[in-house]
Amino acid sequence: MPQRPDPARAAWASAAVRRFAAATNLLVAARRFRVVGGDPADVTALTALLTGLGARPAGDREPVDQLWCLGDPDETTPAVEREADRPRGAALVVIDAGRHLPAVDEDAFGPVVPVRPGVLGVPALSDDVFLVSTGRDPETDPAAEARVRWARRWMPVSRAVARELGDGGLLRGTRVAVAMVLEPKTAVLALLLRDAGAEVVVYAHADETDDAVAEVLRAAGLPVFARADVSLAEQKALALAMLDTAPHIVLDDGSHVIRLLHQERPELLPVMLGAAEETTSGLRPLRTMGERGTLGIPVVAVNDARTKTFFDNRYGTGQSTVFATLDLVDRLAPDARRLTPDAHRVRPGGTAVVAGFGPVGEGVAMVLRALGFVVVVAETDPVRALQAAFAGHVVAPLADAVRDADLVVSATGVRDTLSLEVLRATAAGAVVSVAGGVEQEVAVEAALAAGAVATTEAPDVERFTFPDGHHVVVLDRGGCINVTAAEGNPVEIMDLSFAVQLGAVRMLLERGDELDRAVVPIDPVVDDATARAALAAFGTGPVPPGRLGEHPADREPDARTHRFGDPS
Ligand SMILES: NC(=O)c1ccc[n+]([C@@H]2O[C@H](COP(=O)([O-])OP(=O)(O)OC[C@H]3O[C@@H](n4cnc5c(N)ncnc54)[C@H](O)[C@@H]3O)[C@@H](O)[C@H]2O)c1
Repeated sequence: MPQRPDPARAAWASAAVRRFAAATNLLVAARRFRVVGGDPADVTALTALLTGLGARPAGDREPVDQLWCLGDPDETTPAVEREADRPRGAALVVIDAGRHLPAVDEDAFGPVVPVRPGVLGVPALSDDVFLVSTGRDPETDPAAEARVRWARRWMPVSRAVARELGDGGLLRGTRVAVAMVLEPKTAVLALLLRDAGAEVVVYAHADETDDAVAEVLRAAGLPVFARADVSLAEQKALALAMLDTAPHIVLDDGSHVIRLLHQERPELLPVMLGAAEETTSGLRPLRTMGERGTLGIPVVAVNDARTKTFFDNRYGTGQSTVFATLDLVDRLAPDARRLTPDAHRVRPGGTAVVAGFGPVGEGVAMVLRALGFVVVVAETDPVRALQAAFAGHVVAPLADAVRDADLVVSATGVRDTLSLEVLRATAAGAVVSVAGGVEQEVAVEAALAAGAVATTEAPDVERFTFPDGHHVVVLDRGGCINVTAAEGNPVEIMDLSFAVQLGAVRMLLERGDELDRAVVPIDPVVDDATARAALAAFGTGPVPPGRLGEHPADREPDARTHRFGDPS
């Protein structure tokens, strides 16, 4: 058995890595890291966690993406100076994860400037070196413009794809509607499309709008139909006003705008090239519409791209939903005296139940295991349940698994997954959260109708107490936790997904009128190009030339048997 770090150290490492992720919105997986200084047991705990999340220790001669500093500034300063000597554009994030002292003496590197809340730039050292402190409160929020610039820096794949689109001049005269969670990464997508020659209009639901980011886009001249404080009726009016600009292409997230278009503005459909949809749950109703013959435009299934599903749902959503969940649970700590003794068992060594083992559930389970939880997977599809068993998780029916749970995460995207019966069966005081993201994935309304009383324990953390005294803690009222309570997926993940969105735009521009009025798969060439650009951005060596068309496997296969000698 590999040695597990003790729970206290594992909890410290968990908090440090989550603080890093919250400050930077960066992914842990696939990055090369080095740990400098510190107590060897802390180094072990941190290394185990980072490795479990998919990062890897950098080789001696390899450039480092993340330098984790645990010792004191005497050790840190020369290490930072050594690593800072790197090619232009290759970013280094230096993380002060010291427990007691500051491990990084910021003054040693000259004046610092806030880049994002919690991230400092050190221009005197290099434009590409950033400092993150996991131990102190973030400095004042820099302007939203700086947050958009930060996101842009970590989106090399989308930048490259947009540049190609722009060079081809394909987008000139095309109006593209971006209808997605309005935060810095989406703003970058909108600006890249604009810079590539499109006329861009933007819509976002009120609860998915960062007003400061919306202002950045308005200041850049983009019409933005979004405000955080509007009513449902006003949101609908904003969405319709956006549609009335007659976009040729809609890039959607959840397919609400595509469906609204069909319901309220069907006359626009014949002049449109099509749309692209980002999510699993958004594609479901569109497929039904396609089968019924009621879909009026082709919709490219961006969600199903391999460079989306293999990464966004698994690594991005895994990291961001689990981290957001634990960050909310941490809010219970200051109020710990008010809680029953079993109310806050969400810590390394605890039992976490994951409902659903699609790509999202798989990622959630992986991250929870890296953080030291015993993971139990509940799946209704026997093949996926078998996959969970092969991945080394316990597999059990949901109603049984929740009886001993400390944490329950729904990753199904199916209404009523954590039904009233499941909530009643869940261990008292267990914490419940949602990574999937459909309405009533946790049956909050049914629980309230059954007499449960919701009391606020901390912001976005409520205890639901049933008339018989049974109680569970529900995070963010069962909302899709990484979107509603955090900053969405890590920026590198959205870089991949948005590069696919841009690939979908190219498909619609080049052959939108040939595509069926149905949900259409993404062209495999888009996946191939996106993955190549990402491999380059992650500093991986060159990959053999093209899978598609150039590879021997793609030639007409020889189906004859050679087992009995060469066929004549
Ligand atoms: N939070 C985010 O940022 C984010 C990102 C990507 C996807 N999502 C959403 O997450 C959800 C899951 O995505 P996915 O790609 O893994 O989807 P998926 O459909 O491939 O997987 C869902 C799994 O849940 C299982 N399931 C359904 N009902 C169940 C139940 N009652 N008990 C146990 N298992 C059950 C299904 O058999 C399936 O294997 C979708 O709604 C998707 O839109 C959220």
